[in-house]
Parts: sequence; structure tokens; C-alpha cells
Amino acid sequence: MSRTLWIILGLPFLVFNNQIFAIEGNPALGKKKSETCLGCHGVTGYSNVYPSYKVPKIGGQNKDYLISALKAYKAGDRKHGTMQANSYRLSEEDMHDIAAYLSSVK
Ligand code: HEC
Repeated sequence: MSRTLWIILGLPFLVFNNQIFAIEGNPALGKKKSETCLGCHGVTGYSNVYPSYKVPKIGGQNKDYLISALKAYKAGDRKHGTMQANSYRLSEEDMHDIAAYLSSVK
């Protein structure tokens, strides 16, 4: 199929998709969903609870960055056993909720 045809077919879908299915993360749900995450992240000094190793700061982080990082772990594009294990069960909606909550914390 020609590229033009793909664009013609794809454009209405993209517009539709963005308007109807734009997921607005819900910070209240995200707070619950990120409880497991905070055992490692969100601790003073950015170490895990024990604290035996360093973890990146995710509270207050940019929302889109958080979503793309989680997707990258889930897809295996970003390799890290722990985070791949923590992201594989997250749905697109979970990621948006979590990112909405985390980006709102100071
Ligand atoms: C067992 C500890 C642990 C748990 C639980 C955990 N993480 Fe992580 N997380 C890490 C570590 C370690 C890294 C750094 C990985 C790397 O170097 O790629 C990381 C990286 C990240 C990053 C990338 C940060 C950056 O600056 O690029 C995000 C986003 C993230 N975690 C979100 C989450 C979320 C959301 C959850 C809960 C669903 C979660 N993590 C649960 C340990 C954990």
C-alpha cells in the first residue's frame, strides 16, 4: 500500500484516538498503585528501604518521562530486571495513573 494511502487511513484514527481515548491519569488511583514502587523509590536519599542500593528519584518527575520509562521497561527496550518485573503487569492506564500521582508529588 502506498504511503499516502496509509496517511489518509491513519489520520482520522489518530485524531479520533487522541480525542476520545486520551488517558487522563488519576492521581488518587495512582497513589494506591504506586505503593509497591515506593518501597524502593521515593525514599530519602533515593536508596531502597534497606538501604542497600541507589534508585532514581521518580517523585516529582515529568509525567511523560515516567510513562515512557515504564513502557520501555515493559517492552524490554530498557533493560533492568527489577523494573521490568515491576512494569510488566502495569496496563497503559496504570502507568498514566501512577505517572499522574508521582509527577504531582514534591
Ligand atoms: C525493588 C526495587 C524497585 C521497585 C519495587 C520499583 N523500582 Fe523503579 N527502579 C528501581 C531501580 C533500581 C531503577 C533504576 C533502573 C535502571 O538503571 O534502569 C528504577 C527505575 C525506575 C524508573 C526510571 C527512572 C529514571 O530516572 O529513568 C521509573 C520511572 C521507575 N523505576 C518507576 C517505578 C514504578 C512506577 C514502580 C512501581 C510500579 C517501581 N519503579 C518499582 C527499583 C525499583
